[in-house]
Amino acid sequence: MDVEDPPPKRLSLGDEQRLNPEMVAFARQLRRDFEFIGMQHEFAIEEMLTKVSILRKEFLRLERYNPIEHVTSRVKSPGSILRKAARLGIAPTPGEITAGIKDIAGVRITCSFISDTYRVLEALTSQDDVRVVQIKDYIAEPKPNGYKSLHALVEIPVFLSTGPIPVTVELQVRTIAMDFWASLEHKIFYKYEGAVPPGLVASLTDAAKVSELLDQHMEQLYSEVRDTVHVDAS
Ligand code: GTP
Ligand code: MG
Repeated sequence: MDVEDPPPKRLSLGDEQRLNPEMVAFARQLRRDFEFIGMQHEFAIEEMLTKVSILRKEFLRLERYNPIEHVTSRVKSPGSILRKAARLGIAPTPGEITAGIKDIAGVRITCSFISDTYRVLEALTSQDDVRVVQIKDYIAEPKPNGYKSLHALVEIPVFLSTGPIPVTVELQVRTIAMDFWASLEHKIFYKYEGAVPPGLVASLTDAAKVSELLDQHMEQLYSEVRDTVHVDAS
């Protein structure tokens, strides 16, 4: 999920009158299309968050254990969608955009332990109304910079008044340590606009290794106490 941009400047009526009518009609249609795209992805996120909330409550009630530390979500802004479409050579039509850009709706789930990330992803992706489009396991195979997380693209039905429509949601599931690392790396990446000095890249990769050791250590500790202690029943 990317950093969102500031809201675009709105055109005033005076500006519209100076523009070509076809451009105005195109811009109005684009705005309507983006409202619909935004709405369907917002509803998909609501459904996904309900699923996560139910899972969390079930774990708590049946096992007195909560594997989910926190959950965040976002719908990609129209500006960010248009920039990604331009970058990928996708036409700015609803069909092309929803077919080609799969991370318009994003849900990030942060878990306590590595084993929890797999458990939570499995519990979500095995549900009957969830169609798995793609799973990338960057925990088993981290990116070269050290980035780790489970990524899944899933399609869920959103029930509108006209009937159900399938909507794609990007799920990211990771541990607190992985999330800590990714958020710092993201800030550094944006600060340097992608051109991160090599020394800093190496330091980040080292930090990813330290964070991996911490996760492994915590997992080990947790497995030793799992059967006797209920970790965080909040
Ligand atoms: P996008 O087209 O940018 O969505 O990437 P992709 O199709 O190659 O998918 P990938 O699974 O590689 O990454 C999707 C999302 O994961 C990104 O938008 C980020 O939120 C996150 N991500 C991937 N790689 C990194 C990374 O190296 N650092 C951080 N901080 N986040 C990453
Ligand atoms: Mg993305």
